Amino acid sequence: MSFDMHTFRRQFPILNSQNRFGKPLIYFDNAATTQLPECVIGAMAHHLRVSNANVHRGIYGLSEQAEIVYESTRCEIAQWINAHEPREIIFNSGATEGLNFLASQFTSLTPEDEIILFVQEHHANILPWQRLSATIRIIGMTETGDFDEDDFGHKLSKHTRIISIAHIGNVLGTINPIKKIAQIAHTVGALCIIDGAQSLSHGPIDVQEMECDFFVTSAHKAFGPMGIGFLYGRAEYLERFKPYHLGGGIVDRVAFDQPTLFREIPSRFEAGTPNVVGIAGLREAIRFLRKMDWSTVQHHSERLKHRISEILEQNSSITILRPNSRRTGIISFIHNHAHPHDLASIFDSEGIAVRAGHHCAQPLMKALGINGTVRLSLAPYNTAEEVEWLTVALDKVAYVLGKK
Ligand code: ALA
Repeated sequence: MSFDMHTFRRQFPILNSQNRFGKPLIYFDNAATTQLPECVIGAMAHHLRVSNANVHRGIYGLSEQAEIVYESTRCEIAQWINAHEPREIIFNSGATEGLNFLASQFTSLTPEDEIILFVQEHHANILPWQRLSATIRIIGMTETGDFDEDDFGHKLSKHTRIISIAHIGNVLGTINPIKKIAQIAHTVGALCIIDGAQSLSHGPIDVQEMECDFFVTSAHKAFGPMGIGFLYGRAEYLERFKPYHLGGGIVDRVAFDQPTLFREIPSRFEAGTPNVVGIAGLREAIRFLRKMDWSTVQHHSERLKHRISEILEQNSSITILRPNSRRTGIISFIHNHAHPHDLASIFDSEGIAVRAGHHCAQPLMKALGINGTVRLSLAPYNTAEEVEWLTVALDKVAYVLGKK
């Protein structure tokens, strides 16, 4: 069956709404969060109606039903991202928690140890590492805005313990050469951590093919709900990790006069009552991703991105940032005469939702010599008509600025 964009779009109820100015919503802020299709909303409502109970605790049918939702989601994720086994999947609140969890395992690093980050990282992949005592080494961008592989070659050393890098950058949409990076990192025995916050909705993920050691992501950037995500980690490493949060569900024995006995992975890392309704939504979102025709989706996204670039390039006041990098449907630009926040406000008045500012990537802004950008980020439900509306919004910008 062929993939029809309009049928696809009709599955997202919020896209039929109007914004606060009574304009049809044009949602170009998909890198911040994607919208939810009816099936995901319905799966969560269904779970709440028929299988809502706590998991791993109840010796009764309803709890077992909730547990099936919980554990089957783990299996479906493992299959979707090609993990070796389901116990390599740890539920958490999203990519940020995944990165904090990983950093918490490396508190014994000393200033002699080095962690490599790319200059394009967002704060979630910077701050947890800065808390450690290790030395942080930063890889720069090439002129096109891509990961500088030569710089990586120079900075990698026998002191490198970890490279933690976004699969896709959240500001420029840069797609990083993960497999190559992982292979090079492994030559010095370093671990390769992938921040997949932006990549889950951009195509099938294969952690074995990428050869990464860890992969973190958030459901809400891939048609799922907020507040739920997962971490993939190679079992051989997870087995050596300590529990991050402490609480019920992670222990075999707790006593006042004996050492605590923690459970095996993955339970050891999932303390307390989990977000099972979020997991029900995540499971449906993964099923939704599995049904997508990715080559059609990517072709559609390329066409929209190309047209957006044409529209922006026609405007002499606008500079697209690093337009020639290898990137997804994320376009960041600056305007010579207007602050990004002002542009976003004018866009909003025309129904267009974008993100503006530093995008939680202040080191990247510094490297680019700017304070912020306007960022348009696409999803497969965006249409060519929506893209054309940008010309109306840009005319309004020129009018407001007195240039028309
Ligand atoms: N990381 C998210 C973004 O780029 C919130 O907007």
